Amino acid sequence: MDSQQHYLLLGATGYSGIEFIHQALETVQRPNVTLFVRPGSEPKLPPAALTNTNFRLVLGSLTDAQAIKLALAGDERFPPVSIVVSLLGAYPSFIPLFTRDTSTPIADALRSTVLPVMKSSHVSRIIALSTPTGCYSAEEARTVPWKWWLYMQIPRLLQPQGNAEMKHIADVVIEAGTKDRDLEWTVFRVPHLTSGSRDVGVIAGHLDRNYTASLNLSRASLVKWVFNEVKEKAWIRDTPMLANP
Ligand SMILES: NC(=O)c1ccc[n+]([C@@H]2O[C@H](COP(=O)([O-])OP(=O)(O)OC[C@H]3O[C@@H](n4cnc5c(N)ncnc54)[C@H](OP(=O)(O)O)[C@@H]3O)[C@@H](O)[C@H]2O)c1
Repeated sequence: MDSQQHYLLLGATGYSGIEFIHQALETVQRPNVTLFVRPGSEPKLPPAALTNTNFRLVLGSLTDAQAIKLALAGDERFPPVSIVVSLLGAYPSFIPLFTRDTSTPIADALRSTVLPVMKSSHVSRIIALSTPTGCYSAEEARTVPWKWWLYMQIPRLLQPQGNAEMKHIADVVIEAGTKDRDLEWTVFRVPHLTSGSRDVGVIAGHLDRNYTASLNLSRASLVKWVFNEVKEKAWIRDTPMLANP
């Protein structure tokens, strides 16, 4: 983990976000991390994140441009943010199964506020979590293994809102990267998330006939992969599928 990095973490209060915080706290050379959290959600954060000097907390809504600008800016203790990590996502709910709600508040806020404020704040790297049904390329569609094709029908059918949200997150990040060639984006796609070990391997690849992995990904190994990707920059302007073997 690079101690020079200053991360803006979106989704810090989710399971994966909390795992990100734990792994950042455990490294000897801790990175700086700004946690951007909705007012009222901050009690979900690990207490150490509120007292550690490498961390700072900014409260706000994703549509609050001033709050995002503040979160990306440096201050007397922190340099400006160098990378945004989004572990945001929709909560599973069966209500949209009946209402057929496909609203996408997170993706809409990324498009209207977060990505434009990143650009005006000269922050050019974003790594964002999405779903296998997001940014599913024509090449992948031709050769995707049956196992994965069937797996992708489940959220489409049973979680229409969550699926739309996660897919749209990929769409808006890719769209921003198309308009702004300076944006170094990575959208990684995740299958079923588990509470398994961080030391299990992560297979990153395109979802074509060569992709062989399980349908599970431990959040701990996901976060370890994110920190590694920040260093390696192996998937800039790409949409890797991640899963454990
Ligand atoms: N579980 C799975 O098997 C699975 C599979 C594929 C994809 N996913 C997606 O992966 C995402 C990450 O998973 P996870 O389990 O680590 O996360 P999680 O525990 O579901 O946490 C979601 C995070 O997103 C934030 N959030 C949700 N709606 C928001 C909104 N409208 N505005 C601002 N913040 C919002 C939450 O903030 P608050 O604390 O303020 O609510 C929280 O920090 C999931 O949300 C899900 O959509 C999950």
